Amino acid sequence: MKKLVAANWKMNKTIEEAISFVKEFKKIIKNEKNAEIIICPPFTALAALSKELKNSKINLGAQNMHFEDAGAFTGEISPLMLKDIGCKYVILGHSERREIFNENDFLVNKKIIAALKHGLKPILCIGENLEQKNQGKTKEVIEQQLKNCLKNIDKNEISKITIAYEPVWAISRGNPNHKAATKEDAEKGHKFIRGVVEKMFDKSISKNIKIIYGGSMKPENAKELLSMPNIDGGLVGNASLNAKSFAEIISCAN
Ligand code: 13P
Repeated sequence: MKKLVAANWKMNKTIEEAISFVKEFKKIIKNEKNAEIIICPPFTALAALSKELKNSKINLGAQNMHFEDAGAFTGEISPLMLKDIGCKYVILGHSERREIFNENDFLVNKKIIAALKHGLKPILCIGENLEQKNQGKTKEVIEQQLKNCLKNIDKNEISKITIAYEPVWAISRGNPNHKAATKEDAEKGHKFIRGVVEKMFDKSISKNIKIIYGGSMKPENAKELLSMPNIDGGLVGNASLNAKSFAEIISCAN
C-alpha cells in the first residue's frame, strides 16, 4: 500500500513562508512516487498554496471545517469553501481541537459526513491522552472514538477516510526533543484500530483503510515507524515545518 504522509502545520506560517517552503520542498523532494503527500497549512495560506501546488503531485488539505454548507457561523469555514479553494483532504477531530476547543466525537462525526458529502477526504484523528493511558484505558478510548466518529458512515465511503492514530502524550507541542511512541507501541495501537474497523465493517475494509501515525514523527524515527506492518504513513506536526526534514521523512516511506 502506498504510504500517506501529511504535514499538519497547525497555527504556523504566513503566506510568504508557506510559499517559500513549497518552492524549496518541490526542489528537494526525491521519491515522491512512494508516498501520497499532503500539506495542510492554516486557512490563510490555502489559496496561495493551491496555486503553488498546481501540476504537482502534492495535495492540499485543511486542518478543520464546519459541517454546514453556509450560514451564520461567524469565524467558520465550510466544506464547500474548502473544495472551492482546491482542498482534497481535511483533518478532523485533532486532539488540539478536542482539548482546546471542546470538540467531541459527535461533532467530528457530523463533520466527517459533511466532508464526504462534498468529496473531501477526511483524516480522522483519534488517540488517548496521558491520563487515559496511565489508567489503562487506551483501547477503550480508541474503540469508543472510532464507534462514535464513524457512526452512520456508509460502508462504501470508508475507503475515503484515513485514520490518524495520534497518542496525545506523544505529540510534540513544538518541542523537537519530545519522544514519539515506540514503534512497538504505535504498531500495537494501529493493529487494535484495524481490528475495531473490522468488527464495525468487514475484513476487506479494515485491510485497505489507511491508518497513519502522528506524534513526534521526525527524520530520526520515521523509517522505523513507517516500516511497521500496520503503519500506513504519518501525520507530521513540528518536523513538517522545515522543508528538509519533511522531505527526509517522505524519503523513509517505501
Ligand atoms: P508533532 O509531529 O509536532 O508531534 O504533531 C503531531 C500532530 O499533532 C499532527 O497532527
